[in-house]
Amino acid sequence: MNQGTSSSTVGIDAIAIATPRAYLDLVDLAAARDVPSDKYTKGLGAIRMAIAGRHEDPVTLATDAASRLFARAGVDASRIGYMAVGTETGIDHSKPVASYVHGLLGLPAACRVFDTKHACFGGTAALMGAVEWIASGAARGRSALVVCSDIARYALGSPGEPTQGAGAVALLVTERPRLVELEVGHTGTYARDVHDFWRPLSRRDALVDGHYSVSCYLDAVAGAFGAWRDEDVRRGGAPLARTAYHVPYVKMAKKADRHRAIACEGLDEAAAEARFARDVGSSLAFAAEVGNVYTGSLYMALAALLHAEAGVLEGERVGLFSYGSGCVAEFFAGRVAVGAADVVESLALDEPLRDRVRLDFGAYEAIRRADGDEPAGVTADDEVDVASDRCAFVGVDAAERRVYRRATHGSTPRADAASTAAA
Ligand SMILES: CC(C)(COP(=O)(O)OP(=O)(O)OC[C@H]1O[C@@H](n2cnc3c(N)ncnc32)[C@H](O)[C@@H]1OP(=O)(O)O)[C@@H](O)C(=O)NCCC(=O)NCCS
Repeated sequence: MNQGTSSSTVGIDAIAIATPRAYLDLVDLAAARDVPSDKYTKGLGAIRMAIAGRHEDPVTLATDAASRLFARAGVDASRIGYMAVGTETGIDHSKPVASYVHGLLGLPAACRVFDTKHACFGGTAALMGAVEWIASGAARGRSALVVCSDIARYALGSPGEPTQGAGAVALLVTERPRLVELEVGHTGTYARDVHDFWRPLSRRDALVDGHYSVSCYLDAVAGAFGAWRDEDVRRGGAPLARTAYHVPYVKMAKKADRHRAIACEGLDEAAAEARFARDVGSSLAFAAEVGNVYTGSLYMALAALLHAEAGVLEGERVGLFSYGSGCVAEFFAGRVAVGAADVVESLALDEPLRDRVRLDFGAYEAIRRADGDEPAGVTADDEVDVASDRCAFVGVDAAERRVYRRATHGSTPRADAASTAAA
């Protein structure tokens, strides 16, 4: 079965993130909603949430994250043979986000290109497929690009509103990865048909049974972690030094780790609190700045963890927990590669979080109220309110095709990328 890489390792070689340029400070949202700001900043752990403008969508965010990955990690685009986008922010019932990104990045024609959807689990489904594609030998030395890209939107004034966000995470998956060697074939899974979160086809905002979604997530932690641990004990696995969780809001990761500690591992409250601070805390810094990024949330937590601690974690084992409402969950692990700290430094993972624009509440509400008003026709380049080093959605043409302006530093698109427009 494992023909291509039996003596090799497979995993994450490089990571990059992208977020919209604008954000809303949760203190401003709390004031406007007449809620004590501590409820958002302490009760939910949210500090800022990224807000996508009308020229930003899952395609532009995914393209920006992948462009950064290519530039920062020196990726040879001609060696990509698998490109999957995990997203739950659909822009078309048929054409995948991945096809646009494939065109905008100028990836090879000999490439498996598709989207994966299962709420916030879509990115993990894409990653597992990529890892197994390489481990099976089918990749024949080529690499996989997995991108998670979403805009988390709940109704204005709803309990979900402070847990919005937007962003993308791009992962390069290779043999002999320089960041995290994943344990191929060793995962714990859990699934159950529940209605905790859904978005009917006619709606842009998600619907959620918020408190029920928290309890579904916790059940999934116990189920997936329990299944993984049973196998891990049989294999005699080393302890986990850190764990990154799916982070719909920062406090949820704390609830998850506490539930695992007390319900699954028999720790008391004090030990659970100490374990959380040591093993999970540093993975939450980016989520506090960006908010929920749905499919990318776990991988943004991994990026934050490596950004903060790659140096001390080289050679150590980290756990990863992915949850998608509906629901499915997977717990798996990997080992931080020796030399990862130098790679992480060259990736400048936090760069997209710097130099952002703070929206006032009125501007935020205006953006949200205009949701669904696509630019009428194709916007002239000088009217697109997006820096030229970023990809931009410029509108829908007369044949109802979405049109994008690629970033000026991006790769050259292929000549036959008919539904995309170069600047
Ligand atoms: C998460 C969610 C259910 C919270 O909704 P809510 O009913 O408005 O908020 P709560 O009343 O439960 O308060 C949230 C937290 O803030 C705390 N809090 C409330 N007021 C506070 C204050 N003034 N100061 C400090 N903390 C405060 C609460 O005690 C609670 O903490 P706890 O969860 O540890 O008990 C809601 O934001 C939501 O639906 N989000 C989207 C769904 C989601 O992200 N689900 C996660 C699983 S996928």
